[in-house]
Amino acid sequence: MTTALITGSTSGIGSAFARRLGADGHSLVLVARDTARLREQATELHDRHGVEVEVLTADLATDAGIDAVVARLGDRTHPVDLLINNAGFGNKGRYLDVPMADELRMLKVHCEAVLRLTSAASEAMRERGRGGVVNVASVAAFVPRGTYGASKAWIVQFTQGAAKDLAGTGVRLMVLCPGFTRTEFHERAGMGTGNIPGWMWLDADKVVAAGLADLARGKSLSIPDPRYKTLLGLAKLAPRPLLGTITSRTGRKYGPQ
Ligand SMILES: NC(=O)c1ccc[n+]([C@@H]2O[C@H](COP(=O)([O-])OP(=O)(O)OC[C@H]3O[C@@H](n4cnc5c(N)ncnc54)[C@H](OP(=O)(O)O)[C@@H]3O)[C@@H](O)[C@H]2O)c1
Repeated sequence: MTTALITGSTSGIGSAFARRLGADGHSLVLVARDTARLREQATELHDRHGVEVEVLTADLATDAGIDAVVARLGDRTHPVDLLINNAGFGNKGRYLDVPMADELRMLKVHCEAVLRLTSAASEAMRERGRGGVVNVASVAAFVPRGTYGASKAWIVQFTQGAAKDLAGTGVRLMVLCPGFTRTEFHERAGMGTGNIPGWMWLDADKVVAAGLADLARGKSLSIPDPRYKTLLGLAKLAPRPLLGTITSRTGRKYGPQ
Protein backbone atom coordinates (compact mmCIF):
# COMPACT_ATOMS: atom_id res chain seq x y z
CA MET A 1 0.00 0.00 0.00
CA THR A 2 1.45 3.36 -1.00
CA THR A 3 0.62 6.80 0.40
CA ALA A 4 0.21 10.05 -1.52
CA LEU A 5 0.22 13.50 0.12
CA ILE A 6 -1.55 16.22 -1.87
CA THR A 7 -1.43 19.94 -1.00
CA GLY A 8 -4.42 22.01 -2.08
CA SER A 9 -6.48 18.82 -2.30
CA THR A 10 -9.92 20.32 -1.70
CA SER A 11 -10.51 21.97 -5.06
CA GLY A 12 -9.64 21.93 -8.76
CA ILE A 13 -6.48 20.11 -9.85
CA GLY A 14 -5.63 18.92 -6.30
CA SER A 15 -9.10 17.47 -5.90
CA ALA A 16 -8.70 15.66 -9.24
CA PHE A 17 -5.39 14.19 -7.99
CA ALA A 18 -7.12 13.01 -4.79
CA ARG A 19 -9.98 11.36 -6.74
CA ARG A 20 -7.62 9.63 -9.16
CA LEU A 21 -5.05 8.46 -6.58
CA GLY A 22 -7.83 7.28 -4.23
CA ALA A 23 -9.44 5.33 -7.08
CA ASP A 24 -6.02 3.78 -7.78
CA GLY A 25 -5.94 2.50 -4.18
CA HIS A 26 -3.39 4.88 -2.61
CA SER A 27 -3.78 5.92 1.02
CA LEU A 28 -4.11 9.71 1.08
CA VAL A 29 -2.92 12.63 3.18
CA LEU A 30 -4.95 15.71 2.25
CA VAL A 31 -3.60 19.20 2.98
CA ALA A 32 -5.38 22.57 2.75
CA ARG A 33 -6.54 25.37 5.09
CA ASP A 34 -10.28 24.63 5.31
CA THR A 35 -10.66 21.80 7.86
CA ALA A 36 -14.41 21.25 7.32
CA ARG A 37 -13.91 20.88 3.58
CA LEU A 38 -10.94 18.53 4.11
CA ARG A 39 -13.00 16.31 6.44
CA GLU A 40 -15.91 16.17 4.00
CA GLN A 41 -13.53 15.23 1.17
CA ALA A 42 -11.82 12.58 3.32
CA THR A 43 -15.14 10.92 4.21
CA GLU A 44 -16.27 10.90 0.58
CA LEU A 45 -13.00 9.39 -0.71
CA HIS A 46 -12.86 6.80 2.08
CA ASP A 47 -16.48 5.76 1.46
CA ARG A 48 -16.07 5.59 -2.31
CA HIS A 49 -12.69 3.85 -2.58
CA GLY A 50 -12.18 2.22 0.85
CA VAL A 51 -8.76 3.88 1.23
CA GLU A 52 -7.21 5.35 4.40
CA VAL A 53 -7.48 9.15 4.34
CA GLU A 54 -5.72 11.52 6.76
CA VAL A 55 -6.37 15.25 6.87
CA LEU A 56 -3.77 17.84 7.75
CA THR A 57 -4.92 21.44 8.07
CA ALA A 58 -2.02 23.71 7.14
CA ASP A 59 -1.60 27.19 5.71
CA LEU A 60 1.46 26.93 3.48
CA ALA A 61 1.86 30.70 3.58
CA THR A 62 3.03 30.32 7.21
CA ASP A 63 6.12 28.78 8.82
CA ALA A 64 3.92 26.73 11.17
CA GLY A 65 1.91 25.31 8.24
CA ILE A 66 5.02 24.38 6.27
CA ASP A 67 6.65 22.87 9.40
CA ALA A 68 3.58 20.66 10.01
CA VAL A 69 3.68 19.20 6.49
CA VAL A 70 7.48 18.80 6.60
CA ALA A 71 7.07 16.83 9.85
CA ARG A 72 4.47 14.53 8.25
CA LEU A 73 6.72 13.94 5.23
CA GLY A 74 9.63 13.13 7.55
CA ASP A 75 7.67 10.51 9.54
CA ARG A 76 9.65 7.34 8.75
CA THR A 77 6.99 5.12 10.39
CA HIS A 78 4.26 6.29 7.96
CA PRO A 79 6.20 7.01 4.78
CA VAL A 80 4.83 9.10 1.92
CA ASP A 81 5.56 7.57 -1.49
CA LEU A 82 4.16 10.32 -3.69
CA LEU A 83 4.05 14.06 -2.93
CA ILE A 84 1.89 16.37 -5.04
CA ASN A 85 2.86 20.01 -4.38
CA ASN A 86 -0.25 21.57 -5.89
CA ALA A 87 -1.48 24.37 -3.56
CA GLY A 88 -1.32 27.73 -5.28
CA PHE A 89 -3.21 30.89 -6.13
CA GLY A 90 -3.17 34.05 -8.19
CA ASN A 91 -3.16 37.57 -6.79
CA LYS A 92 -5.83 40.07 -7.76
CA GLY A 93 -4.05 42.61 -9.91
CA ARG A 94 -0.95 43.34 -11.90
CA TYR A 95 2.56 44.15 -10.73
CA LEU A 96 2.61 47.17 -8.36
CA ASP A 97 -1.19 46.97 -7.95
CA VAL A 98 -0.77 44.00 -5.60
CA PRO A 99 0.29 44.72 -1.98
CA MET A 100 3.85 43.52 -1.26
CA ALA A 101 2.56 41.29 1.56
CA ASP A 102 0.47 39.35 -1.00
CA GLU A 103 3.44 39.05 -3.39
CA LEU A 104 5.54 37.61 -0.55
CA ARG A 105 2.71 35.23 0.43
CA MET A 106 2.76 33.89 -3.13
CA LEU A 107 6.53 33.31 -3.00
CA LYS A 108 6.09 31.53 0.35
CA VAL A 109 3.44 29.13 -1.04
CA HIS A 110 4.83 28.66 -4.57
CA CYS A 111 8.57 28.65 -3.79
CA GLU A 112 9.52 28.24 -0.11
CA ALA A 113 6.83 25.63 0.66
CA VAL A 114 7.60 23.73 -2.56
CA LEU A 115 11.35 23.76 -1.75
CA ARG A 116 10.90 22.61 1.85
CA LEU A 117 8.25 19.97 1.13
CA THR A 118 10.11 18.56 -1.88
CA SER A 119 13.31 18.38 0.18
CA ALA A 120 11.69 16.69 3.18
CA ALA A 121 9.95 14.14 0.97
CA SER A 122 12.96 13.49 -1.29
CA GLU A 123 15.31 12.90 1.64
CA ALA A 124 13.03 10.23 3.12
CA MET A 125 12.39 8.72 -0.34
CA ARG A 126 16.11 8.59 -1.14
CA GLU A 127 16.69 6.57 2.05
CA ARG A 128 14.09 4.04 0.85
CA GLY A 129 15.36 4.15 -2.74
CA ARG A 130 11.98 5.01 -4.24
CA GLY A 131 9.32 7.70 -4.44
CA GLY A 132 7.96 10.52 -6.57
CA VAL A 133 7.26 14.25 -6.35
CA VAL A 134 5.00 16.20 -8.72
CA ASN A 135 5.28 19.98 -8.47
CA VAL A 136 2.42 21.84 -10.13
CA ALA A 137 3.67 24.92 -12.00
CA SER A 138 1.91 26.35 -15.09
CA VAL A 139 2.49 27.15 -18.75
CA ALA A 140 2.68 30.73 -17.40
CA ALA A 141 6.23 29.76 -16.41
CA PHE A 142 7.31 30.00 -20.07
CA VAL A 143 5.82 33.38 -21.01
CA PRO A 144 5.94 36.90 -19.52
CA ARG A 145 3.04 36.77 -17.05
CA GLY A 146 3.69 38.90 -13.98
CA THR A 147 4.98 37.69 -10.66
CA TYR A 148 2.72 34.60 -10.87
CA GLY A 149 4.56 33.39 -13.99
CA ALA A 150 7.91 34.24 -12.37
CA SER A 151 7.12 32.12 -9.30
CA LYS A 152 6.02 29.23 -11.53
CA ALA A 153 9.24 29.57 -13.58
CA TRP A 154 11.14 29.05 -10.31
CA ILE A 155 9.21 25.79 -9.75
CA VAL A 156 10.13 24.56 -13.26
CA GLN A 157 13.84 25.36 -12.88
CA PHE A 158 14.02 24.01 -9.34
CA THR A 159 12.24 20.74 -10.13
CA GLN A 160 14.17 19.95 -13.30
CA GLY A 161 17.49 20.75 -11.61
CA ALA A 162 16.67 18.66 -8.53
CA ALA A 163 15.45 15.79 -10.76
CA LYS A 164 18.89 15.70 -12.40
CA ASP A 165 20.67 15.76 -9.04
CA LEU A 166 18.53 12.85 -7.79
CA ALA A 167 18.87 10.73 -10.95
CA GLY A 168 19.76 7.15 -10.06
CA THR A 169 18.45 7.40 -6.45
CA GLY A 170 15.01 5.95 -7.23
CA VAL A 171 13.36 9.35 -6.49
CA ARG A 172 11.53 10.81 -9.46
CA LEU A 173 10.71 14.53 -9.65
CA MET A 174 8.41 16.01 -12.28
CA VAL A 175 6.99 19.48 -12.85
CA LEU A 176 3.44 19.61 -14.24
CA CYS A 177 2.55 22.68 -16.32
CA PRO A 178 -1.17 22.96 -17.10
CA GLY A 179 -2.78 25.69 -19.20
CA PHE A 180 -6.12 27.32 -18.27
CA THR A 181 -8.03 24.70 -16.27
CA ARG A 182 -11.61 24.94 -14.99
CA THR A 183 -11.23 25.19 -11.18
CA GLU A 184 -11.88 27.81 -8.48
CA PHE A 185 -8.55 29.49 -9.27
CA HIS A 186 -9.76 32.40 -11.40
CA GLU A 187 -12.76 33.25 -9.25
CA ARG A 188 -10.62 33.22 -6.10
CA ALA A 189 -8.13 35.57 -7.78
CA GLY A 190 -10.89 37.90 -8.95
CA MET A 191 -9.94 37.30 -12.58
CA GLY A 192 -12.46 37.66 -15.36
CA THR A 193 -12.25 34.76 -17.80
CA GLY A 194 -14.42 36.21 -20.57
CA ASN A 195 -11.48 36.77 -22.93
CA ILE A 196 -10.16 33.20 -22.67
CA PRO A 197 -11.38 31.26 -25.74
CA GLY A 198 -13.33 28.06 -25.00
CA TRP A 199 -10.79 25.83 -26.77
CA MET A 200 -8.06 26.91 -24.32
CA TRP A 201 -9.82 25.42 -21.27
CA LEU A 202 -8.64 22.09 -19.86
CA ASP A 203 -10.42 19.60 -17.63
CA ALA A 204 -8.71 18.93 -14.27
CA ASP A 205 -9.24 15.14 -14.41
CA LYS A 206 -7.61 14.98 -17.86
CA VAL A 207 -4.70 17.17 -16.70
CA VAL A 208 -4.09 14.75 -13.83
CA ALA A 209 -4.38 11.63 -16.02
CA ALA A 210 -1.88 13.04 -18.54
CA GLY A 211 0.46 14.20 -15.75
CA LEU A 212 0.53 10.83 -14.01
CA ALA A 213 1.10 9.08 -17.35
CA ASP A 214 4.11 11.36 -17.93
CA LEU A 215 5.42 10.60 -14.42
CA ALA A 216 5.17 6.88 -15.14
CA ARG A 217 7.14 7.46 -18.38
CA GLY A 218 9.92 9.09 -16.33
CA LYS A 219 9.51 12.63 -17.68
CA SER A 220 10.76 15.56 -15.58
CA LEU A 221 8.48 18.09 -17.36
CA SER A 222 4.86 17.48 -18.29
CA ILE A 223 2.77 19.78 -20.50
CA PRO A 224 -0.44 17.79 -20.13
CA ASP A 225 -2.21 18.73 -23.37
CA PRO A 226 -1.24 18.78 -27.08
CA ARG A 227 -2.85 22.23 -27.62
CA TYR A 228 -0.47 23.83 -25.12
CA LYS A 229 2.53 21.89 -26.45
CA THR A 230 1.81 23.48 -29.85
CA LEU A 231 1.24 26.94 -28.34
CA LEU A 232 4.51 26.78 -26.41
CA GLY A 233 6.32 25.69 -29.58
CA LEU A 234 4.90 28.74 -31.39
CA ALA A 235 5.71 30.99 -28.40
CA LYS A 236 9.40 30.13 -28.79
CA LEU A 237 9.27 31.61 -32.31
CA ALA A 238 7.26 34.75 -31.47
CA PRO A 239 9.04 38.08 -30.77
CA ARG A 240 9.24 38.55 -26.97
CA PRO A 241 7.42 41.97 -26.84
CA LEU A 242 4.46 40.60 -28.87
CA LEU A 243 4.36 37.48 -26.70
CA GLY A 244 4.36 39.66 -23.58
CA THR A 245 1.43 41.73 -24.87
CA ILE A 246 -0.71 38.69 -25.71
CA THR A 247 0.05 36.55 -22.67
CA SER A 248 -0.17 39.27 -20.05
CA ARG A 249 -3.66 40.24 -21.30
CA THR A 250 -5.35 36.87 -21.73
CA GLY A 251 -7.37 35.96 -18.64
CA ARG A 252 -6.03 38.86 -16.59
CA LYS A 253 -9.05 41.14 -16.34
CA TYR A 254 -9.44 41.94 -12.67
CA GLY A 255 -12.48 43.32 -10.91
CA PRO A 256 -16.14 42.42 -10.55
CA GLN A 257 -17.09 39.36 -12.64
N1 LIG B 1 -6.64 26.66 -12.90
C1 LIG B 1 -5.71 27.00 -13.78
O1 LIG B 1 -6.00 27.56 -14.85
C2 LIG B 1 -4.25 26.66 -13.50
C3 LIG B 1 -3.37 26.66 -14.58
C4 LIG B 1 -2.04 26.33 -14.37
C5 LIG B 1 -1.59 26.03 -13.09
N2 LIG B 1 -2.47 26.06 -12.05
C6 LIG B 1 -1.94 25.74 -10.71
O2 LIG B 1 -2.61 24.58 -10.24
C7 LIG B 1 -2.58 24.55 -8.82
C8 LIG B 1 -3.97 24.25 -8.29
O3 LIG B 1 -4.82 25.33 -8.64
P1 LIG B 1 -6.36 25.16 -8.98
O4 LIG B 1 -6.58 25.77 -10.30
O5 LIG B 1 -6.80 23.78 -8.74
O6 LIG B 1 -6.95 26.19 -7.88
P2 LIG B 1 -8.14 26.10 -6.83
O7 LIG B 1 -9.31 25.39 -7.40
O8 LIG B 1 -8.31 27.51 -6.35
O9 LIG B 1 -7.54 25.20 -5.64
C9 LIG B 1 -6.49 25.67 -4.82
C10 LIG B 1 -6.25 24.69 -3.67
O10 LIG B 1 -5.11 25.13 -2.92
C11 LIG B 1 -5.46 25.30 -1.54
N3 LIG B 1 -4.68 26.42 -1.03
C12 LIG B 1 -4.64 27.70 -1.47
N4 LIG B 1 -3.81 28.44 -0.72
C13 LIG B 1 -3.30 27.61 0.22
C14 LIG B 1 -2.40 27.79 1.32
N5 LIG B 1 -1.90 29.00 1.63
N6 LIG B 1 -2.08 26.72 2.08
C15 LIG B 1 -2.62 25.51 1.82
N7 LIG B 1 -3.48 25.28 0.81
C16 LIG B 1 -3.81 26.32 0.04
C17 LIG B 1 -6.98 25.54 -1.55
O11 LIG B 1 -7.65 25.14 -0.34
P3 LIG B 1 -7.86 26.13 0.93
O12 LIG B 1 -8.39 27.42 0.41
O13 LIG B 1 -8.78 25.39 1.86
O14 LIG B 1 -6.50 26.26 1.55
C18 LIG B 1 -7.41 24.61 -2.69
O15 LIG B 1 -7.53 23.28 -2.21
C19 LIG B 1 -2.03 25.92 -8.37
O16 LIG B 1 -0.66 25.77 -8.02
C20 LIG B 1 -2.17 26.78 -9.64
O17 LIG B 1 -1.21 27.81 -9.66
C21 LIG B 1 -3.79 26.36 -12.22
